[in-house]
Amino acid sequence: MIQLLASTRSKEYPIYLSGGAASDVGSLWSSQGRGGKLVIITDSNVAELWLRKVEASMDDAGITASSIIVEAGEAAKSLERAAELYSKLFALNVRRRDAVCALGGGVVGDLAGFIASTYMRGIGLVQVPTTLLAQVDSSIGGKVGINIDEAKNYVGSFYQPDMVVTDPDLLRTLPDAQLKEGLAEVVKYAMLSGEDFFAAMESSYEKFLGMDMAFVEPVVRRCIEYKLAVVSEDERDLGRRAVLNLGHTVAHGIETAGGYERYSHGQAVSLGLLAAARLSSEILQLDAAYGERLRVLLEALGLPVEMHGVDPALVLRSMASDKKADDDSINMVLLEELGRPVINCDVPPGQMEAVVRGLGED
Ligand SMILES: NC(=O)c1ccc[n+]([C@@H]2O[C@H](COP(=O)([O-])OP(=O)(O)OC[C@H]3O[C@@H](n4cnc5c(N)ncnc54)[C@H](O)[C@@H]3O)[C@@H](O)[C@H]2O)c1
Ligand SMILES: [Zn+2]
Repeated sequence: MIQLLASTRSKEYPIYLSGGAASDVGSLWSSQGRGGKLVIITDSNVAELWLRKVEASMDDAGITASSIIVEAGEAAKSLERAAELYSKLFALNVRRRDAVCALGGGVVGDLAGFIASTYMRGIGLVQVPTTLLAQVDSSIGGKVGINIDEAKNYVGSFYQPDMVVTDPDLLRTLPDAQLKEGLAEVVKYAMLSGEDFFAAMESSYEKFLGMDMAFVEPVVRRCIEYKLAVVSEDERDLGRRAVLNLGHTVAHGIETAGGYERYSHGQAVSLGLLAAARLSSEILQLDAAYGERLRVLLEALGLPVEMHGVDPALVLRSMASDKKADDDSINMVLLEELGRPVINCDVPPGQMEAVVRGLGED
């Protein structure tokens, strides 16, 4: 079992990573010496596939555990669902020394994490991420929250878990589309990390698609380690953590312009990474060959490399919130080299427009 240490200003906690680790959640929690009971919060899909395994691990470790299942889907990240969960925790007599175990993807992690951060002003939290996106991204870093009707992730807090148990074997049941959601983030980490990681993805991406754990597990580890390093320096997202937004400025514009239906987050990130690579070549002289290598890799992974069915003008307008107050330029993360991100790059509006239009016109 690999044990990584997350060390932020507010807390230090372990991240356990290994195939089969889901069977050890109970014993790993016991080894924290916290006592108390655990309430597993999961969604309807994950419950069918993996809940019994985690419940059995609690039984084996002699931990009192209950489970609450929410309907799968982004709609679970709502104040209404949160209110129901608070009442269920109350009915289960959950107290401050007890903990919530978030078993699921980013939706469950964000929702259950938000509940843990607010119920009785904060109870214990264990993250057991079950999607690739959750394993490499949302379970790390302590951002938890819910959506409001007007905007996504608008209500939340920073709340680090007490432990994370990451089991790449759980990804075997992930639908292909969900795997790709996470792969877009993996490619982002590869670009941020450098040639080594990027070249490994280029040469061995098929092993990832084929769920060859000898490749998947170290890739997940590299992503976690990258995010941990950034978050430990900048827990509250005031500076260096911004590098994680690589590709996300344009991606958010595409998601919004497509009404959150045309392109999923991961697909939009794929296009956003391409836009970032192009702008990096124009503004920071990144070798244009990387843009081409990126396109080939994203395509091989089954991610979109051309934008269709979204109006580029709408994409540009949707990025307005990323505009700087004093002029019309847009603030972005770009790369001067693979592995060398630069935050706060000013992109003039004309240049942004040309690159977004270059993604596809119809
Ligand atoms: N907190 C953060 O830092 C952060 C970062 C990125 C994204 N997010 C949030 O994460 C959410 C998206 O997360 P997601 O992509 O994991 O979506 P998700 O949680 O909705 O999971 C996607 C789908 O896969 C199913 N699923 C989960 N694990 C499975 C498994 N092992 N086998 C089969 N099916 C499985 C789920 O039931 C769901 O239907 C968004 O709400 C986003 O805002 C948060
Ligand atoms: Zn993302």
